[in-house]
Amino acid sequence: MAAPSPSRTSDWWRDAVIYQVYPRSFADGDGDGTGDLAGVRARLPHLAALGVDAVWFTPWYDSPMVDGGYDVADYRAVDPAFGTLDEAEKLIAEAAALGLRVIVDIVPNHVSDQHAWFREALAAGPGSAARERFHFRPGRGERGELPPNDWPSQFSGSTWTRVPDGEWYLHLFTPEQPDLNWSHPDVRREHEEVLRFWFERGVAGVRVDSAALLTKDPDLRDFTEGVDPHPYIDLDEIHDVYRSWRAVADEYGGVFVGEVWLPDAERFARYLRPDELHTAFNFTFLACPWEPDRLRATIDSTLAEHAPVHAPATWVLCNHDVTRTATRYGRADTAFDFATKRFGTPADLELGTRRARAAALLTLALPGSVYVYQGEELGLPEADIPLDRIQDPMHFRSGGTDPGRDGCRVPLPWEAEAPSYGFGPPPGTEPWLPQPADWARYAVDRQLADPGSMLTLYRTALELRRTERGFGDGPMDWIPAADGVLAFTRDHGLTCVVNLSAEPATLPPHTALLLVSGPMGADGTLPPDTAAWLRA
Ligand code: NOJ
Repeated sequence: MAAPSPSRTSDWWRDAVIYQVYPRSFADGDGDGTGDLAGVRARLPHLAALGVDAVWFTPWYDSPMVDGGYDVADYRAVDPAFGTLDEAEKLIAEAAALGLRVIVDIVPNHVSDQHAWFREALAAGPGSAARERFHFRPGRGERGELPPNDWPSQFSGSTWTRVPDGEWYLHLFTPEQPDLNWSHPDVRREHEEVLRFWFERGVAGVRVDSAALLTKDPDLRDFTEGVDPHPYIDLDEIHDVYRSWRAVADEYGGVFVGEVWLPDAERFARYLRPDELHTAFNFTFLACPWEPDRLRATIDSTLAEHAPVHAPATWVLCNHDVTRTATRYGRADTAFDFATKRFGTPADLELGTRRARAAALLTLALPGSVYVYQGEELGLPEADIPLDRIQDPMHFRSGGTDPGRDGCRVPLPWEAEAPSYGFGPPPGTEPWLPQPADWARYAVDRQLADPGSMLTLYRTALELRRTERGFGDGPMDWIPAADGVLAFTRDHGLTCVVNLSAEPATLPPHTALLLVSGPMGADGTLPPDTAAWLRA
């Protein structure tokens, strides 16, 4: 039977499971040590067999890779390290043939300093029209030797770099990522054309990078803690941008997922009004510690904040920017916070993995869509990267205190016995980041043969989520449970119980036990840090 071709007219995104591919580290098709589109195409059957609905690719565009591709030099070209535009088109078609939708990543806040516009702006000099597409300003101080304002960078340090003619330009991230001026009509026009370019090539959706940062205070006023509104986070004008983007997406039946880090639930929900973005990542849930009361409160506030705008929630445990789930849940502090990341934080991986398994069943049973970051289905831990191999600018800009994000970006292990665990390069060619020596046990082939593996758990859970009634979009209700136990029902008596207490928990009455994240107690109880799906 032919695989179903993904339809772009339904509300598939309201309860989809979306797999995140970091192309540099997924699979290396040409053997140079860097993952690429050929590698992804060869491994698409893994994703189809896993049972996800869509695949989000972090940027594959032409880029000097100063920030892992989030420094885009040309949105209409694929980086030669990854392949060609023709291959991207083939990949989109092959994914569709397997029933998988493709989501690309658009980075509207900034471009690479190698982008044609920025090179033109540098050459054109102060006062030129080409500089107006960016934020160029004279400096402060007697000779303009001080930056134009005091905005702190998202990656530590200053947000301003001075060019040889004396002007400064703004970059919220690295100096190689100059910020675009979103009051400029060229910037708006160009991005709408880029959206069309990819929708025309059959992508079903777009992830919007740094979605709340685009618009800036017109006077670029100083940042003072508590100043309202903030000079560059979540300005009201930004919604105008997304309203016009939505009109473009609607022409193609395309959908958006916004990278919106905002603590204020009401402000967050504004991005999800019916004429703006369809969905946004739930970072409050991602950052939440493995604690029953905090998790329950986060789930409640998530659902409450999405309800008035009729947007589905998303459930995210991990991505290419944060500490891997199995490691984080095995630490004394199970929350995630960029500010407190340090080298050498101890983790009990056995405990963290048990919790990551339970968390997978929790997220997959909640109403809304779920994101799975590559390697999460393998239970990969955060890797320790030797200092001389670290590439992430976040590490360098922190003055070396922040280990950076490379530990969650290590090339995937596919085959336990093959060189580089089957990632791709032949013996003698190193993957772009080193793989830990003990990763054979996480390899896909080994996990496929193990009924107790993380991969088997994910495949079984995703199949049940597709075939059993009650999952996905729709209501949920908490049911009474012992202290430290989260239990809720969905339609058709589907029930999820997660034991976050230190004691075994009694399961509520049920007619069927659909799945358990770990071994049950001999007396039929649910052990600590274990989750179960039941039919009541
Ligand atoms: C968010 C992306 O996820 C991250 O990887 C990147 O460094 C920043 N945005 C800047 O584009």
